[in-house]
Amino acid sequence: MTVTEKAYAKVNLSLDVLRKRSDGYHDLCMIAHTVDLCDDITIELTESGTVSCSCSVGFIPSDGRNLAVAAANLFFERTGLWNGGARISIEKCIPVCAGLGGGSADAAAVLRALNRLLSAGLAERDLCELAIPLGSDVPFCVGGGAQLMEGKGEVLTPLPLLPDCFLVICKPADSLSTERVFTYSDSRPIKHRPDTAGMIRALEVGNISDFGRRMFNVLEEPASRLVREIAPIRGRLIDLGALGACMTGSGSAVIGLFTDSEVAANAARSLSDVYAETYLTRPVGRIEL
Ligand code: C5P
Repeated sequence: MTVTEKAYAKVNLSLDVLRKRSDGYHDLCMIAHTVDLCDDITIELTESGTVSCSCSVGFIPSDGRNLAVAAANLFFERTGLWNGGARISIEKCIPVCAGLGGGSADAAAVLRALNRLLSAGLAERDLCELAIPLGSDVPFCVGGGAQLMEGKGEVLTPLPLLPDCFLVICKPADSLSTERVFTYSDSRPIKHRPDTAGMIRALEVGNISDFGRRMFNVLEEPASRLVREIAPIRGRLIDLGALGACMTGSGSAVIGLFTDSEVAANAARSLSDVYAETYLTRPVGRIEL
């Protein structure tokens, strides 16, 4: 039995760091959206007793450090529905260490796929609960669409979807580790914060230019000191006609919001001359279980 599943990337259109918690994590408040840049996951149940994983790019771990493998092991353990193994294959398209939740998207796709393959019948709420120990972005990636993410990222509230638009994603060659960016940001004062409530109001009335000009990520200032190209890429996106632009997650990718397809395509073309990992994407709605 084999099942395939798309693992969609997420972008953060805003990210606020509220406080450092006693467990070392941070309480966050962010608006996230699924986009159509995706990895392709194939899962086959086997009798081997172990979960193995192969990936189209060599540097992704194939053992339990891979979130897709951890997700399958956790699903088998918690549901008790399969005591054999599984073979996971990942066709990787989402850049890694970019703030696009690639590993989290793969893990969430594995949970959805196994839920179907084993007719487990878990509701989205149950899959999100199961996803929490896997990582802060995994619960969001289960159902995707547009959501407000709070707490560590696991407290989710659905939001109105972005209206028809384009998101240009541009990742500089240098990557960033989430842990490193958070640690570095702890030593720096926060001077500006996103107007999250204003952005939600703009989404509710479908005012995309009001929404776009408020895009802001508190981690961008510290991350820009670690990877110098982040600020210039954001500047280029704005110069090329984006309604708004900011770094996504803990970086290093930067996103620009566009309403006009030709302006967006031109921006993507222009940036791809310098940055190989540039993508023209569109928002995706809620993901069916
Ligand atoms: O939860 P996840 O494993 O994705 O988090 C990776 C790292 O990001 C954590 O070890 C922590 O340093 C940082 N993090 C944080 N606060 C969050 C989410 C992540 O400090 N809410």
